[in-house]
Amino acid sequence: MTVSDPVVEEVVSTIGRSATEIRQGLIGRRGTVDEENPSGETQAEADVWADDLLADRLGEIDGVGEYASEERADVIDCGDDPAASDAYAVAVDPLDGSSNLKSNNAMGTIFGVYDDALPARGEALVAAGYVLYGPITTMMIATEETVAEYELSGGERTVVDDDVTLPDEPVVFGFGGRVPDWPDDFREYAREIEDELKLRYGGALIGDVNQVLTYGGTFGYPGLQSRPEGKLRLQFEGNPIGYVVERAGGRSSNGDRSLLSVQPDDLHDRTPVHVGNDELIDRLEAALE
Ligand code: F6P
Ligand code: MN
Repeated sequence: MTVSDPVVEEVVSTIGRSATEIRQGLIGRRGTVDEENPSGETQAEADVWADDLLADRLGEIDGVGEYASEERADVIDCGDDPAASDAYAVAVDPLDGSSNLKSNNAMGTIFGVYDDALPARGEALVAAGYVLYGPITTMMIATEETVAEYELSGGERTVVDDDVTLPDEPVVFGFGGRVPDWPDDFREYAREIEDELKLRYGGALIGDVNQVLTYGGTFGYPGLQSRPEGKLRLQFEGNPIGYVVERAGGRSSNGDRSLLSVQPDDLHDRTPVHVGNDELIDRLEAALE
């Protein structure tokens, strides 16, 4: 199953082919380098390596005008201006959850294809998705047409579900941040959810969101008392994940409205992120009012 827009298809097939290599290349790259990313996090060797690999390959696709990632300060110009032409901008979190490298737990690669110059609103996305490096490597691709899940093996992408839909009945939840650092209104909401759903939190956004898409429920990384803007990045994490979950029939929110409607100020803006079944995100927004 291919994506109908040829540039988007080239982007997703390049990421799909690279994922098998990225997974293999994690071996021997579990150490840290002596650098921080633009969000002030220590970079793993694998973060820098995966970013360079994706920048080279995605940047040379005809029709990709900009490449940006969580691991570099500025947007790379690699073609026409996406704001003034048919070209797209690709934003990537090359290795989401890379702190899980040390403990050998799930990680991902997240991408968003924007029909606008970066930073852009999520409403400008024409496709988004992620690779999950779990026991097997899977890829979720959301477009205006559909959300589909694939298995990746040896550079090949095989569809396993061509119509991924969030289950109606919520089952799991995962909330990031330390409980004493949660604002009181979020803590009250979380207490209710804890009574109703089963905790699943693995410390990699992609692993946790994929559980929500599989079983139904909600993932949240809220604004904290010490950091009201939360931890996750709007361009590289919040928007792509919000797009996937909304296309699969759920909702996304920054606590107030859809993540996709948030106007960014800066490429590396952070945002509270909440995704999941409509009813749960409605309740969350009511609790935070
Ligand atoms: O990319 C940031 C990230 O690693 C996400 O993948 C994950 O959801 C979150 O941080 C985990 O943060 P914490 O270690 O605070 O639970
Ligand atoms: Mn990440």
